[in-house]
Parts: sequence; structure tokens; C-alpha cells
Amino acid sequence: MKILITGAAGLVGSHLARRLSLEHDVAALQHADLDITDREAVGRTISDVKPALIFNCAALQVDESERNPAMAQAVNAGGPGYLAAAAREVGAEIVHFSTQYGFDGEPIDRAAYTIEDEPRPVNVYGRTKVAGERAVRDACARGYIIRTSWVYGSGKNSFLCNVHAQLRAGKKVRAIDDIWSSTTYVEDLIDRCLEIRGTRRYATYHVVNAGVCTYYEFALEAGRLLGLARAEIDPLIEITHERDMRRIAPRPRYTPLRCLVSEELGFPPMRDWRAALAAYVRRDLE
Ligand SMILES: NC(=O)c1ccc[n+]([C@@H]2O[C@H](COP(=O)([O-])OP(=O)(O)OC[C@H]3O[C@@H](n4cnc5c(N)ncnc54)[C@H](OP(=O)(O)O)[C@@H]3O)[C@@H](O)[C@H]2O)c1
Repeated sequence: MKILITGAAGLVGSHLARRLSLEHDVAALQHADLDITDREAVGRTISDVKPALIFNCAALQVDESERNPAMAQAVNAGGPGYLAAAAREVGAEIVHFSTQYGFDGEPIDRAAYTIEDEPRPVNVYGRTKVAGERAVRDACARGYIIRTSWVYGSGKNSFLCNVHAQLRAGKKVRAIDDIWSSTTYVEDLIDRCLEIRGTRRYATYHVVNAGVCTYYEFALEAGRLLGLARAEIDPLIEITHERDMRRIAPRPRYTPLRCLVSEELGFPPMRDWRAALAAYVRRDLE
């Protein structure tokens, strides 16, 4: 099958490209190859490549979006709309990634968010990602919207991706203990996306590992998986709070996700976040 991936240098895009290239003819387009905000370039590229399936992994991240709302709107909402329209033109399906940041995360300890909950984003990234979902739905009936949360895997410089390596090297980390979400191992995300695509059920999905944690709990578990004793882990983790991080964009506090469509389709819950993290740590240290 001919598959086109946008944002292919990013965390999700690079892992998807590697996995799908084993079995398919993949055009893995990085930002420099295709800027999804360029409507004409999107149309031309899709009509040249004629993919059967498009994965849109391009996005402007959270703080960058707050700094530059016009660019956020263009990348997170406009571009997905162009891609979905171009998909429709060539008869392709589109998988578009979205986020738990569409929700406001209040109150703490509420039930996990489902597709029945109204989006109520608290930052520019969330607002533009919600607009991107709408743009994809409006432009292409053969679309899968995959909302995911706190994704980690090899190759990216982020807290979730690196905390185990930092602890292993005896380096100190700062870990936030007052925001909670679902976490998602990128390999599990890809497995479930491929299962979903196999159903041809065009809908909005929540794809995350089971359970909920803070960054602090994630760091503790990473240390435990490395075989470190609590007395060795504690001095390496400085607990911090979201407000003390002085990040540009506000973050929702409590955003675990639950997937009603997967339940309806009879998919088993994805493995618990601790089992997924164990698989990542094992694989990354091999
Ligand atoms: N990572 C997470 O925790 C997480 C959580 C929830 C949802 N998601 C969603 O999952 C998807 C993939 O995220 P990710 O973590 O893989 O992001 P990422 O690592 O930041 O990768 C995004 C990629 O998009 C590219 N990009 C930015 N603007 C572009 C444009 N105008 N045209 C084409 N490419 C452009 C970036 O390239 P440059 O860097 O060169 O600009 C980057 O390679 C996104 O839709 C994101 O919203 C991610």
C-alpha cells in the first residue's frame, strides 16, 4: 500500500515511518519536504504520490503555539484541513493525531474523558488542535481522529522519553507532581492505530495506555524498573509543581482518556502504563 506521512521527523512520524516501511511503500515527508500550511504544495504532493492512506503527524507544540497563535492555527488546524481535502480528492483515508489538551482537566479525579465530553481547551495548542479535528471531519468522511496523550519513545528530547536514561546516568531530574494524564508508548500507539485502521470505522478514538499518573510517578516507576532502590531514586528526583515551571502555555490538570469506540469494537484495553514503560525501558537499554 502507498502511505504518505507528514511531520515524519517527529516522535510519532519517525516511528510510524520505520514501522510501516517494513511492509508498505512509504513517502515519509519531513517539514522541509512538505509544509502542510502550503495548500498548493499539499494538493500537488498528494495528487503526485496518490497515497491510499495519509498519516498527519505534523503539529506545532504546546508552548510554541502559545507564542505564535497564527502559526498554531495554520499548522494545527489549516494544514490538517488541506490534507483531508486532498485525501478526499484522491480517495485516500486520513489518520489525524489530536490530543487530550482539547479538555480542560477539571476537576481532579473526575472520570476519564470520552468522546461524549465537550472539548474545552485551556491553551492555544488545545484550541487549534480541536479546530484541526473539525477541519479533518468536515473535509473527509474517511478519517480517523486519534486523540492521544503524553506520548514517549526513543529519539525525542522530552521528560517522558529521557527520564529513565537520566536516572540511570545518576543525573538529577525535576518532576511535576500536580498534573495527571494518560501516558502512551509510541509503539503501542502505532499498534492500536493499525488495528483501528483495519476496521474502516471512521470515528474519533482515544488511544492511550491504561491508567493515569503524574510526571513524578512516571519518574519513580522508571527508577524502579532500572532496579534502583527508593533510597537511590529519591535524591535524584526533585519534586516540582506546574506553577513553578513557568511554562508559557497553561496545562490542563487532569486529563486521562478512555476510548468508547474501541470498547464498542471489542478491542481489549491497552496495557497498563507501567507495563508499557517497562517495555520501553527494556528496549531502549538493549
Ligand atoms: N507527543 C505527545 O506527547 C503528544 C500528545 C498528544 C498528541 N500528540 C499529537 O501527536 C502528533 C505527533 O506529535 P509528535 O509528538 O510526534 O510531535 P513532534 O515530535 O513535535 O513532531 C511534529 C513534527 O511536525 C513538524 N512540523 C511542524 N510544522 C510543520 C509544518 N508546517 N509542516 C510540516 N511539518 C511540520 C515538525 O517539524 P519541525 O520541528 O522541523 O518544525 C516535527 O517534526 C501531533 O498531532 C500531536 O499534536 C502528541
